[in-house]
Amino acid sequence: MKILFASSEVYPLIKTGGLADVSGGLPRALKALGHDVRIIMPAYGSLLATNAFPVLAQIQCGAPTWILGSFLPRSDIPVYFVDIPHFFSRLGGPYQDPRGHDWIDNGERFCSLSRAAVEIAMDRIQLDWKPDILHCNDWQTGLAPALLSSEKDAPATVFTIHNLAYQGVFDKPTFDRLNISRQLWAPNALEFYGNVSFIKGGIVFADMINTVSPRYATEICESTFGYGLDGLLKDRGDRLVGILNGVDYSEWNPSQDPNLTQNYDRHTVALKAANKRAVQERFGLPIDASIPLIAVIGRIVEQKGFDLILDALEWLTAQPLQMAIIGAGDKKLEQALADAAVIHRNCLALHLGYDEPLAHLLEAGADIFLMPSRFEPCGLNQIYSQHYGTVPIVHCVGGLADSVIDATPENLASDTATGFHFHEPTVNALHHAVWRALVAYNEPALWQQLQQNGMQRDFSWEQAAQEYVRLYHSALHVRDERLLAVLENSE
Ligand code: ADP
Ligand code: GLC
Repeated sequence: MKILFASSEVYPLIKTGGLADVSGGLPRALKALGHDVRIIMPAYGSLLATNAFPVLAQIQCGAPTWILGSFLPRSDIPVYFVDIPHFFSRLGGPYQDPRGHDWIDNGERFCSLSRAAVEIAMDRIQLDWKPDILHCNDWQTGLAPALLSSEKDAPATVFTIHNLAYQGVFDKPTFDRLNISRQLWAPNALEFYGNVSFIKGGIVFADMINTVSPRYATEICESTFGYGLDGLLKDRGDRLVGILNGVDYSEWNPSQDPNLTQNYDRHTVALKAANKRAVQERFGLPIDASIPLIAVIGRIVEQKGFDLILDALEWLTAQPLQMAIIGAGDKKLEQALADAAVIHRNCLALHLGYDEPLAHLLEAGADIFLMPSRFEPCGLNQIYSQHYGTVPIVHCVGGLADSVIDATPENLASDTATGFHFHEPTVNALHHAVWRALVAYNEPALWQQLQQNGMQRDFSWEQAAQEYVRLYHSALHVRDERLLAVLENSE
């Protein structure tokens, strides 16, 4: 199958979160299954500063646009970079300026990305390659299925929702500036309470839709997690599935991870201790092999439950444990954590900023990984943690519920338990789960069982990629039926 994979971030080229991990991992797994997969993404200034990619074509996507060509590092997967200097060559992140504010022209910027994806999908730029499937990811590429809907002989489309909380909603004047068909300004198209919603483009027009865990696919059809789109998603229920993300074990593998002080595998878990010591040194925590060390890694935003962690700190810091946190995000939450780290410097350490190697070391050095997200479409660190023998404590939602098996008496008896769940996003429930973990930590045989169960689980991309292939087949089927219906109507 020929697949064009559209994403706004792809590891290791650019990353702000899990979308990049998926966009780096899934295409590799599809390629390994024998499919012809190619990636399209923006040519951010940071990439052009260190690479000279050849120009493949020059087109017009709302502004003069160059399509540059290269390959995903360590692979022969072609990457098409959409180079619109005015939109993508800037200092700052993919979505925000250096002060953490959304770029004011994000609507125009990512509309261009979708336009470029459509041009390639329709084979209109002399690449002599037409995909069977256009696979779009999140709101940044949500307009592409909408734009393709008016094309003849278009590829089938798949839209993956990595996070429904980010929708790409812009005002009406922005819609007018995008210069796209007026017909798309309708409640059954892109219009959303008087604004234009990019994510609706994917949800309404894609042939098949998926989220990144089965549980989240159900949750977003209810008002609590549906962000105003639950009705529409319920309506599209027959086209919506959940596929749990995989892990790229060539990046996340404690036996060969170059960021660790000491590599280990499930037969040598005791070697983790050297990484724990390295973490304690790096974070300025007291060196102590026996005290349980809890890690937190993530974007510091409400989604990840940092407010819960802050509220729980008084209790947590009174327990015999250490905490090491890596993250960046909301300035107020960052400040509150920084203040707490000063007060509790003996047991709470914080690294503010984005640091990929340190995140790997912390996964290896910690005993416990805490992920109290209020909602979590999939979540990756709790999956990485299991592979690193680091026992996760998670709020039982979305992909956290689907990937961590709670240490209930039944699951312990059947030797399947890998971590701890809590069911309500409250401080008390979090305390209770941490307390359960601390009790287990003090029973070495039980703890080793949890570590071994986690390390033996297989979350490799291969299986998830096969599910995506089935989804692509469904999308082709839906597209064909749609075309047939149009044909019959016109007769
Ligand atoms: P999300 O995509 O919602 O941010 P995920 O759990 O899916 O959450 O993925 C987060 C990814 O980003 C993981 O690979 C994690 O290690 C990484 N990450 C998040 N924050 C940081 C940080 N401050 N430093 C290094 N890596 C980070
Ligand atoms: C989003 C979600 C996260 C998921 C990631 C990759 O950023 O917040 O749960 O793991 O996308 O799919």
